[in-house]
Amino acid sequence: MPSFSNLTLRTDRLLLRPLCEADAPSLFAIFSDPRVMRYWSTPAWPTIDKAHALIAQDMQEMSAGKYVRLGIERKDDGQLIGNCTLFNLVEQCRRAEIGYGLAFAAWGRGYMHEALSALLEFGFSELALNRVEADIDPRNLASARSLERLGFKKEGHLRERWIVDGEVSDSGLYGLLRSEWAPRLGKVHSLDS
Ligand SMILES: CC(C)(COP(=O)(O)OP(=O)(O)OC[C@H]1O[C@@H](n2cnc3c(N)ncnc32)[C@H](O)[C@@H]1OP(=O)(O)O)[C@@H](O)C(=O)NCCC(=O)NCCS
Repeated sequence: MPSFSNLTLRTDRLLLRPLCEADAPSLFAIFSDPRVMRYWSTPAWPTIDKAHALIAQDMQEMSAGKYVRLGIERKDDGQLIGNCTLFNLVEQCRRAEIGYGLAFAAWGRGYMHEALSALLEFGFSELALNRVEADIDPRNLASARSLERLGFKKEGHLRERWIVDGEVSDSGLYGLLRSEWAPRLGKVHSLDS
């Protein structure tokens, strides 16, 4: 995979771009919030060290093309309101997994739909992906609805697959195929890498 260090995607209201050290306080504010982390695969972040570590890891791994994680910046006020990721990239099978999280105060305004539309467009058009997968807690109705609105189909249910802070939970597995995204190809965002 190529380096993703300088990748930026633009939508009407958002700038998607790699995280940088100055994002640490905003990132920590988002991912230390128990409301955001209720159905996440790890506990809420206890200290800002987690933010520094994630940013440092991104700088290394994004330049090596290991995954794509983009901060979601609101154009209006320049505020970092979340991030979205394409990870577990399997080049031979042209597939990847998607992940996303938004600051609580920004929920319910369609921001994540806008961000994920651009990320998926990048994945299918620039990375030539054939399939994108998501693994969510089936109780996370907002996340399920976000995926369905993007065209993902629920493909499976795995029991007791996660244990986070002692809480056991299931996985809802979703998939979106290139052939299903095809009608939207080229209609979503302007690439600015
Ligand atoms: C999941 C998440 C990204 C959704 O982003 P969002 O921009 O707030 O999405 P919306 O508010 O537009 O909601 C998406 C859809 O879910 C619906 N929804 C929201 N909350 C809901 C709830 N509690 N029950 C049922 N539906 C719900 C909305 O009505 C909307 O449906 P629509 O598209 O038909 O209008 C956001 O809630 C979030 O960051 N959650 C915490 C992190 C997380 O769980 N990430 C996913 C991990 S897999």
